[in-house]
Amino acid sequence: MTAPPEHAVQLEGLTRRFRARAVGDNGIGSATDATNVTAIDGLTLEIRRGELFGLLGPNGAGKTTTIRILCTLLAPTAGTARVWEFDVVRDPAQVRRHIGTVLTGERSVYWRLTGRENLEYFAALYQVPTETARRRIAMLLDLVELTPRADDLVERYSTGMRQRLALVKALLHDPPVLLLDEPTTGLDPQAARNGRDLIRRLHRDEGKTIILTTHYMEEADQLCERVGIIDKGRIIALDSPQALKRAQQHRTALRVEVEGPVLGVTPMLQALPGVGHVAVVAQPADSTWEVTVELTDVNDTLPRTVQILSGQGLRVRHLQLLDISLEDVFIALTGRRLRD
Ligand SMILES: Nc1ncnc2c1ncn2[C@@H]1O[C@H](COP(=O)(O)OP(=O)(O)OP(=O)(O)O)[C@@H](O)[C@H]1O
Ligand SMILES: [Mg+2]
Repeated sequence: MTAPPEHAVQLEGLTRRFRARAVGDNGIGSATDATNVTAIDGLTLEIRRGELFGLLGPNGAGKTTTIRILCTLLAPTAGTARVWEFDVVRDPAQVRRHIGTVLTGERSVYWRLTGRENLEYFAALYQVPTETARRRIAMLLDLVELTPRADDLVERYSTGMRQRLALVKALLHDPPVLLLDEPTTGLDPQAARNGRDLIRRLHRDEGKTIILTTHYMEEADQLCERVGIIDKGRIIALDSPQALKRAQQHRTALRVEVEGPVLGVTPMLQALPGVGHVAVVAQPADSTWEVTVELTDVNDTLPRTVQILSGQGLRVRHLQLLDISLEDVFIALTGRRLRD
């Protein structure tokens, strides 16, 4: 047995172009750039073994294309992709042995069979020895809490249950790497929450390397150790969610509702290091003031801001930190929203 690799996935200059169907093609000349879509454009990225990594980006960013290349469904136009040190083009069988994939909208299980029958069928197809398969199926059904419904027909399952069954199917051959394309899209909030818990457990308890795509920034934020923000086929930011947000922290604001004499407070606050813009707005309805202070350094500046306010004889009625989200990070990077 060789030692497991340091990196589960390595992309180098990975590029995929699609020939868009030429509309009104008059047959003169060859396909121009305009008729080609560059779905991913020179992606270079390393994902550590055991990492829980998120590809976050808007529609058409190239997330699914990346996943499809990694699971050998699609060949790169240029560059390389390696999984567990196997090249997706030169060694696709080895790549497939090391990954489990759940793609969106894919009907990956038979609805006319029961959940358990599906799993037994696919385990046989993957040549998992019968006894191992039986144990693994029981264990995985338990893990995703499908045991009580294992002998029902899949056509009677809810969307969330089918999603969990597809996950079990992807785990049958015990791959070290899981590729999940939009794992919670289309699920109701409760099912989505359960789905995220399950992903966490697979990462934490089973040591899986997990690469998921999402356009929910909360999902990327809550779940992923590292996030690659992808836009138009390129990685535009790559870091932990915390670090990505910290890099934009001048956008963090403290909003304080105060009672009392606010006159003169603005210049005092503005003189504090770590304070950007200060806005004071009267709220005549309850004769309070809303003071919004842009902070570049929350830890130091927040207590000093509050000190100044109370030192001026103001009564703080309400205090709120307007935290920046990954959505704010995306807007700051691209000038656009994640979802249009
Ligand atoms: N088979 C294909 N033929 C032509 N163009 C394609 C094909 N597959 C993807 N594309 C194009 O490549 C680009 C990236 O698509 P991709 O599906 O990877 O995006 P995505 O990030 O997964 O988006 P979404 O959030 O909508 O799922 C898009 O412009 C898309 O139209
Ligand atoms: Mg997609």
